[in-house]
Amino acid sequence: MAFPSHRPRRLRSTPALRRLVAQTSLEPRHLVLPMFVADGISESRPISSMPGVVQHTRDSLRRAAADAVAAGVGGLMLFGVPRDEDKDASGSIGVSEDGILNVALRDLAKDLGEDTVLMADTCLDEFTDHGHCGVLDATGRVDNDATNARYVELAVAQADSGAHVVGPSGMMDGQVAAIRAGLDAAGHTDTVILAYAAKFASGFYGPFREAVASSLRGDRRTYQQDPGNAREALHEVQLDIDEGADIVMVKPAMAYLDLVRAAADISPVPVAAYQVSGEYAMISAAAANGWIDLQTVALETLTGIRRAGADIVLTYWAADVAGWLA
Ligand code: PBG
Repeated sequence: MAFPSHRPRRLRSTPALRRLVAQTSLEPRHLVLPMFVADGISESRPISSMPGVVQHTRDSLRRAAADAVAAGVGGLMLFGVPRDEDKDASGSIGVSEDGILNVALRDLAKDLGEDTVLMADTCLDEFTDHGHCGVLDATGRVDNDATNARYVELAVAQADSGAHVVGPSGMMDGQVAAIRAGLDAAGHTDTVILAYAAKFASGFYGPFREAVASSLRGDRRTYQQDPGNAREALHEVQLDIDEGADIVMVKPAMAYLDLVRAAADISPVPVAAYQVSGEYAMISAAAANGWIDLQTVALETLTGIRRAGADIVLTYWAADVAGWLA
């Protein structure tokens, strides 16, 4: 008998064979593009820590969104950046129909209709003057239940504005149940909840804070999870499923692939993972130095996140990937 008897290299010998046996697929439809839209700017503004990503004006957002959808991305996740003077302690501008996020949702809903899946970040941090994801109690702590009441108003405003999907990302206990009940009561029974179920207090959100001009001082450790806690992450995923989440998400992605896998193993609903700003920045910076090849590494990381079990991946490269794979 010839030695070795098992020759896995045989299946790697031509591009056609490799294509035939490729186990994990990465397609534009799997990818969601997060986008930032800012109030009070007349030109789109680069985000220095995220080369290639910008704060959009209403108009530039409409063009970029149409391009991304034409390229085939699976959906768009919108973040609003209000003017500093419009921020207050309870994030009122997020709920207001004149708030930039709700205005932009209406623009895109009108432009794109059902050609894409329009998602909105359902959180207060972009809108509060203290930068926390919730409202504060008298002692300065984030008040869980008062925050949930605000999230309901936010979610309803976003659904009213045309969001197909709301994405509660504040990690309050009971936020999914509260939002589901609030949406249903407002007649939005078909609005999907993409729950940031296991979201960690991560250094990888650093560039995002620049992207949304965050007012935060301090950290989010009283509501976001401790990076070492796997069991708790699965508990959070299970709670969100029980509360009615339609999709559950793990975030960040690359440092938490074990939890993407674990969530995929137990979840009866689709699982998403968010390749966050710091993951994008880190790879972009290394590539800008000529140390790694951007496209190769971006595709490799996204394939890895899919292989770990993510059905959907949020990534700032979503539109680029659609172009690369075309
Ligand atoms: C909260 C929110 C954050 C991100 C998405 N939603 C910031 C945070 O939790 O501090 C981070 C996304 C990224 O880093 O790309 N609204």
